[in-house]
Amino acid sequence: MLRISVLRLLGRPGTSGVSLLEYSSPRHYSSGPLGARDDARGARAFFTTPIFYVNAAPHIGHLYSALLADALCRHRRLRVPSAAATRFSTGTDEHGLKIQQAAAAAGLAPTELCDRVSAQFQQLFREAGISSTDFIRTTEARHRIAVQHFWGLLKARGLLYKGLYEGWYCASEECFLPEAKVTRQSGSSGDSCPVSLESGHPVSWTKEENYIFRLSQFREPLQRWLRGDPQAITPEPFHRAVLEWLEEELPDLSVSRKSSHLHWGIPVPGDDSQTIYVWLDALVNYLTVIGYPNAEFKSWWPSTSHIIGKDILKFHAIYWPALLLGAGMSPPHRIYVHSHWTVCGQKMSKSLGNVVDPRTCLDRYTVDGFRYFLLRQGVPNWDCDYYDEKVVKLLDSELADALGGLLNRCTAKRINPSGTYPVFCTTCFPSEPGLVGPSVRAQAEDYALVNAVATLPRQVADHYDNFQIYKALEAVSSCVRQTNGFVQRHAPWKLNWESPVDAPWLGTVLHVALECLRVFGTLLQPVTPNLADKLLSRLGVSATERGLGELCFLPRFCGHPCPFEGRRLGPETGLLFPRLDQSRAWLVKAHRT
Ligand code: MSP
Repeated sequence: MLRISVLRLLGRPGTSGVSLLEYSSPRHYSSGPLGARDDARGARAFFTTPIFYVNAAPHIGHLYSALLADALCRHRRLRVPSAAATRFSTGTDEHGLKIQQAAAAAGLAPTELCDRVSAQFQQLFREAGISSTDFIRTTEARHRIAVQHFWGLLKARGLLYKGLYEGWYCASEECFLPEAKVTRQSGSSGDSCPVSLESGHPVSWTKEENYIFRLSQFREPLQRWLRGDPQAITPEPFHRAVLEWLEEELPDLSVSRKSSHLHWGIPVPGDDSQTIYVWLDALVNYLTVIGYPNAEFKSWWPSTSHIIGKDILKFHAIYWPALLLGAGMSPPHRIYVHSHWTVCGQKMSKSLGNVVDPRTCLDRYTVDGFRYFLLRQGVPNWDCDYYDEKVVKLLDSELADALGGLLNRCTAKRINPSGTYPVFCTTCFPSEPGLVGPSVRAQAEDYALVNAVATLPRQVADHYDNFQIYKALEAVSSCVRQTNGFVQRHAPWKLNWESPVDAPWLGTVLHVALECLRVFGTLLQPVTPNLADKLLSRLGVSATERGLGELCFLPRFCGHPCPFEGRRLGPETGLLFPRLDQSRAWLVKAHRT
């Protein structure tokens, strides 16, 4: 297999004069082929989603969390294809007061509720193409073993003590709140009840003898960790926020509840009268899935990336690393944080009746369409608003018109009657811009396009590394627009295959456009796997030619053979992404309401 990196392509040996390097920022040329850095580290990568509460059915916010992790993981697999190099876990968080109360309210045994809702998450994730390698349920025996072992370590290291814990407890958030985070709200009957200032959920006063974790000892180690690794929490504003929290004293943390109050959980080893705090229980899931407490877990920890929503940052960036340090382990490699989806400007909630069902969306917009929408529009740094018209507009313009239209233009029978990848002519499109001659047809903008697409894989990888997947998609979309501009500019439909003057240039225009499409298809795989497969199959790109490590763009341009030249295109299988019919009944209804 030919391995020509973008780097080699652009830094052609043996050429003088103006090279493509002049068109690019030097940053793009510093790091070698994609995949090389990861290969060199020989590192394993372990991605996790939060585990989802089973008190209610999944909504689009949950799916978004899982999709971000899925896209990161799929991108990583394209860089380092070895199946043994990447793991990806998700699952359901099934213990705690919140689930105990939800089951009681539904008149179900907790196990029944857990089975029912966990199955809904599993089905949703299957349908949405979440490529996890493990789905954990915290009610599994393997998890109880891991949690109790972890507890034992903390105990043996003198980090747990028994004491009186008193304060406000919010069952909905499963956490104690300081007085300053509690306010009064008048209920429907006019009485006032205490609620969490941030979430508005009810809180209750709790005074119990519990096991307490010496969290206060970890303030400085946590500060050292975060100051020493500025990318530990990404994007940066969240990293800064955690460091700001750590400027204040860290109180010790209650890590158990009386079993008489909370029976739905894992008992404290050696003390059945206490149940382990649900957050400690839940966080250890990240170790359970890599085999903890068996030694095998060490080959995956700490090369772990946690993908989480901003509401659970404190648990992942303070409690979890402190617990890990306490148990003699390192904090996770990365914590990637995202913001939330609102619906028509409002927080999604059952009581407001505005919860968007992700399965309906997958049906309406297709799996790839909805994945593309959430990842293209979701910006980790701030909240995003959902409404149906936005989805239709985006998918019609970017997937159906721009990308689908481009493929159609370059593969349609009337323009590409032989149904092949045409030959690139270096006389029409010399590698040196600015050459003048009777057969030179390429213009300055065409060199700009070649440069933009050649540097796209590196740019996309950088955006993935910075957890800015929407920027990666924005960059791809911008190149698709540029490629459409290229095709429009040279109007291949006006050129004639029969003419010896036109034919080499016509082939070259199509060759360049197909090469661009091949790069787009390859880069879109983590986000729209089915659509990308359809696109690459139509181009005749085999399964072994779809990785990022060996992705080479337009090798002919710098005098290397192109394995695709002359190859038959794949079979025609219809529109790449059909336009969403705006007159569909559901959309008309959505407009009216
Ligand atoms: N069970 C805990 C996590 C334990 S992880 C050791 C939990 N569960 S959750 O079901 O409430 O939330 C799971 C994920 O969904 C979180 O990352 C949360 O931020 C995310 N989302 C919940 N609502 C959301 C939106 N409206 N928008 C985007 N993500 C949202 O917390």
